[in-house]
Amino acid sequence: MNKITAAITAIGSYVPDFVLSNQVLETLVDTNDEWITSRTGIKERRLLKEEGQGTSFMAIKAAQNLLEKANLNPKEIDLIIMATATPDMPVASTGVYVATQIGATNAFAYDLQAACSSFLFGMSTASAYIQSGKYKKVLLIGADKMSSIIDYTDRATCIIFGDGAGAVLFEPNTDGLGLQDEILKSDGIGREFLKIDAGGSILPASEETVKNKQHFVFQDGKTVFKYAVSGMADVSEKIMERNNLTHDDVNWLVAHQANKRIIDATANRMGVEESKVLINIHRYGNTTSATLPLLLCDFEDQLKKGDNLIFAAFGGGFTWGAIYLKWAYNK
Ligand SMILES: CC(C)(COP(=O)(O)OP(=O)(O)OC[C@H]1O[C@@H](n2cnc3c(N)ncnc32)[C@H](O)[C@@H]1OP(=O)(O)O)[C@@H](O)C(=O)NCCC(=O)NCCS
Repeated sequence: MNKITAAITAIGSYVPDFVLSNQVLETLVDTNDEWITSRTGIKERRLLKEEGQGTSFMAIKAAQNLLEKANLNPKEIDLIIMATATPDMPVASTGVYVATQIGATNAFAYDLQAACSSFLFGMSTASAYIQSGKYKKVLLIGADKMSSIIDYTDRATCIIFGDGAGAVLFEPNTDGLGLQDEILKSDGIGREFLKIDAGGSILPASEETVKNKQHFVFQDGKTVFKYAVSGMADVSEKIMERNNLTHDDVNWLVAHQANKRIIDATANRMGVEESKVLINIHRYGNTTSATLPLLLCDFEDQLKKGDNLIFAAFGGGFTWGAIYLKWAYNK
């Protein structure tokens, strides 16, 4: 029998209706559209405004969009991996709630957290379960409500992040399509540069932590930028070399949408031309775990069976990596 690989066979997404434009941000903090656009490539982002709703709200909608498009019975799903840095609540797994809400009653579920690399690392995990032959349908969801942890008086972070969700289904393939190779990395040196100080086990919530705004994201943008540029470019170049892929062989670069300049630097190092670089950062900003599946959904029409996709991501921690995947279907 041919080797089993894990192929993406269906995708779905959801973004909230509410649009936060650069022009509106100009009224909240000392910034301007020109600065944000030239430094990041972002024009607007979506925010979840529904009262009392968290990340699961968007994850459920993305999963339902996939189920509908693929005409899939949720009872057939074996496992749901919920990639997120903003779970609904501590302890009770968001993925478990999502599984129950979408009717995936035969699946087990859990959350996976690796900051902005959560979805990329989740692709590796989902793929390993499929390759083992143990499970046939693994749903990977990437969703984040970044607006719940952003201080909208801090111009260093509020211009960057947005909310959204995407879902992909992994199934076994014996024709050589699906995930081919991966390089995944992490380095605890990054802990100080992108973090939320309070609300965890080191510094539990108190009146003091709330007063000091320690429940919001802190980012040393310059340092993160430096590591992100070299980290993402290094692994993307290496995975091409290791698989004997020239820039002509690469059909699409599917890179985490944190900053257009980081994506451009990665594409340049790979020698991949602009027309092959999937971009939607101008519409959504950095949606953390949702950027990669949102790209797949926005560009699904253009992806063709057999296309070579290089996924790349960089996130807090630090965490980063690249994945080489052969696309498995025509829409
Ligand atoms: C955040 C980021 C866009 C800032 O861009 P930058 O070019 O590094 O900007 P700097 O932080 O060096 O700031 C440059 C100047 O702009 C100012 N500035 C910062 N934010 C600003 C804003 N929103 N609007 C206007 N000016 C701003 C700074 O105060 C600084 O002014 P100074 O030179 O007078 O001190 C960029 O560092 C970045 O994208 N970092 C990585 C983000 C990332 O990938 N994060 C997630 C990983 S998943």
